[in-house]
Amino acid sequence: MATDDKDLFKKIVSHAKEYGFVFPSSEIYDGLQAVYDYGPYGAELKKNLKDLWWQSMTRLNENVVGLDAAIFMHPLTWKASGHVDSFNDPMIDNKDSKKRYRADNLIEDYAQRLEAEGKADQAKAVLTEMNQLLEAEKLGELRELIVRENITCPISGTANWTEVRQFNLMFSTEVGSVAEDASKIYLRPETAQGIFVNFLSVQKTARMKVPFGIAQIGKAFRNEIVARQFIFRMREFEQMEMQFFVRPGTEMQWYEHWRDVRVRWHKALGIPADNLRIHPHEKLAHYANAALDIEFKFPFGFKEIEGIHSRTDYDLKRHQEFSKKKQNYFDNDLNEEGKPYGNYVPYVVETSVGADRLFLMTLCNAYTEETVGEGDQQKERIYLKLHPALAPVKAAIFPLVKKDGLPEKAMSIFNDLRYDFNIIYEEQQTIGKRYTRQDLIGTPFCIAVDYETLENDTVTIRYRDTMEQKRVPISALREEIGREVSVSNIFKNL
Ligand code: GAP
Repeated sequence: MATDDKDLFKKIVSHAKEYGFVFPSSEIYDGLQAVYDYGPYGAELKKNLKDLWWQSMTRLNENVVGLDAAIFMHPLTWKASGHVDSFNDPMIDNKDSKKRYRADNLIEDYAQRLEAEGKADQAKAVLTEMNQLLEAEKLGELRELIVRENITCPISGTANWTEVRQFNLMFSTEVGSVAEDASKIYLRPETAQGIFVNFLSVQKTARMKVPFGIAQIGKAFRNEIVARQFIFRMREFEQMEMQFFVRPGTEMQWYEHWRDVRVRWHKALGIPADNLRIHPHEKLAHYANAALDIEFKFPFGFKEIEGIHSRTDYDLKRHQEFSKKKQNYFDNDLNEEGKPYGNYVPYVVETSVGADRLFLMTLCNAYTEETVGEGDQQKERIYLKLHPALAPVKAAIFPLVKKDGLPEKAMSIFNDLRYDFNIIYEEQQTIGKRYTRQDLIGTPFCIAVDYETLENDTVTIRYRDTMEQKRVPISALREEIGREVSVSNIFKNL
């Protein structure tokens, strides 16, 4: 990361903490690595993002319905899905610093350094060798590669490494009140399996016909070896996943459809096209016949925010095998020969986006520093340029002064609008400071009540991005705010 970008990211992280968006978890005990809490404005912003995703999936697609499955699932679920045996990361410890690393991350960071030094060919060769060794599970040779390239620990500076071992990322706990009877269960590492095991129940009860989708938002847990970049890689996070069940043989067409829909969605949220890119996977997971990441240009580089995967019939077939319950769907529609498609296990195309990564992308995209004013009056201004439909607070209402009936008038406007929008009333400090505070949390409108309001029932409305002020009748506020903060502004760009 270049120094400027590093500084920018640091500023965004401290902004998030200082203005009530994201706090380190249990901070009074010095925090818990890779776990974070969302503060008052962060919780609103994250909820707005989740609501928007949910509404786009379930309202804008008549063939997608929702689900809210439990975090705990029968332990066989994770045997069937392959997570017990192969949801691993290769880890390595430095004997001097006692620090643990993901072996692949160490090598990738090294390759990045080579590239920065203009040794792109060498970087490529190292990465190819690493991928081949990972694929073949040759962990001894992976260690040899690290030693041969003299990759050292960033803390101790030595190459005194342990063996490379596989580390399963699932958290486990025990269910049952009597120790002897307790059995081991897992905290789900992805929400998708809750959808797979409910596939037939949803299909039957919601009377869905293939192709159809099931959408879900929920917590997932991974014991990440290295937690990096704030809320980018967490141990407890939230996923928004949609499994789309299709006829075998049509999966590539649906894979391309959902890829395009999801890229459009991110753009409609205000992410510039140049800051998004698609990264097709070269190495496919055992269950996939196509996969790609949608990446966003964070200050620390292009990184994945969402995965689109064509998962074939792998998951449903594995659950069929382990549960001994048929997962077939009878398709009555007629094919080109005029015969019913008949009985089959559907193929699945998945869209999977992390709510926390989406939040981080939104925050990075919104954080704006600019110089305003002229000459001596010039000053730096920081604000969050959030889409009004996503902003945690839609409007703030201020009486100009705390006397002469202005607070009462402002309060009556607040009481009139509070049921329609998340708004706040503020009367402390100068009006300039109150504007600045709202800019910092991304409030799109500030409404000031002054002496003229008492005479003619008009207020000034100040727009966050332009700082322009306009006089409007109180009776026009609901429409003025409502028009701008409506999610339909996003939906119509989809
Ligand atoms: N069901 C497929 C699946 O889980 P994934 O690529 O492992 O695929 C999907 O995860 C998305 O979940 C990622 O694109 C990312 O947004 C989010 N995600 C994964 N691990 C995460 C972590 N440790 N912290 C935050 N978000 C994470």
